[in-house]
Amino acid sequence: MTPRAQTIQAVRSEPSSLDEFAQAVLKGLSAPRKRLPCQYFYDAVGSMLFEEITRLEEYYPTRTETAILHAHAPSIAGPSGRDAVLVEFGSGSSRKTELVLAALAAPRAYVPIDVSVSALSDAWARLELRFPGLDIIPVNASFWEALRLPARVLAHGKLGFFPGSTIGNFDPPDAGRLLMHFARVLGSPSRLIVGVDLEKDPQRLVAAYDDAKGVTARFNLNLLERINRELGGDFDVARFAHRAIYDQEFKRIEMHLVSRARQTAQVLGRSFSFAEGETIHTENSYKYSVEQFRAVARGAGWQPAGLWMDANRDFSVHELVLPQARAADGV
Ligand SMILES: C[S@@+](CC[C@H](N)C(=O)[O-])C[C@H]1O[C@@H](n2cnc3c(N)ncnc32)[C@H](O)[C@@H]1O
Repeated sequence: MTPRAQTIQAVRSEPSSLDEFAQAVLKGLSAPRKRLPCQYFYDAVGSMLFEEITRLEEYYPTRTETAILHAHAPSIAGPSGRDAVLVEFGSGSSRKTELVLAALAAPRAYVPIDVSVSALSDAWARLELRFPGLDIIPVNASFWEALRLPARVLAHGKLGFFPGSTIGNFDPPDAGRLLMHFARVLGSPSRLIVGVDLEKDPQRLVAAYDDAKGVTARFNLNLLERINRELGGDFDVARFAHRAIYDQEFKRIEMHLVSRARQTAQVLGRSFSFAEGETIHTENSYKYSVEQFRAVARGAGWQPAGLWMDANRDFSVHELVLPQARAADGV
């Protein structure tokens, strides 16, 4: 770990005897339909592979959302005024953030929150050079944590930022709960900018999650490699295959790891059996219409305001506004 990474503040709700990753793996592999939570994709290797995915021809979301932010940064950042604090949930490389920071008038601070220490420390090093004098406060935590922003930024206006369609990793009820949680973290009044991938031709969707170069396959399989590295597992990774399918009913891409043969794997002294063709469900990526997403946001207490899209309507960037709380709202 680099010296910079060691200084990043880690926030955990409850210390436990078995590390959270271990608990999630044992629980997920014991389920009747095996699953692993997608947040564990992002160790240093996974974060690097995700960056490679964002540059793939098939992976339209990153370049489309970046172009929207580029074209509309002044409208997106403008209403936050001077001295705003930008709080980003699942910040990753913070590349898109640069467009928002550059458009904000004298931003007071930037608080990137991510489970990946390597992504936070790389982004911190780059942003420090690009925005000298900006107070950068990286937080290594799940964005579900009951985070308290540092006292020195509390008095300033908050602009939340949640790009990358990471919201799509949650089913709509959980997406609503997450937006409600962000409202508590940001406080009111505040604004939140959310990037949301839109429904489209399933063939394009599947190609975006199953690219010809096999980078997404490596990203998915890295989860088993991470279990082997960090939990002493003995998965024979070559005997699993990546699969991406589009579920028309739920309007979501599903990523799975498919067992190529009947086999067993040991993790932390437990044995897990796989039938040939059995899968571990590793990620969902829900696709929305504009109105469906706005309904989820409204249900979570946010008022939909600005909306920016590309000409093809492949991707949407939403402005959500949290009005000043009444005393009884407790937000
Ligand atoms: C789809 S990537 C998006 C990255 C970046 N925001 C972008 O738009 O390119 C998801 C990011 O969220 C982070 N992440 C995933 N689950 C998380 C969680 N529960 N809490 C905090 N960060 C999370 C990952 O480490 C990764 O950097």
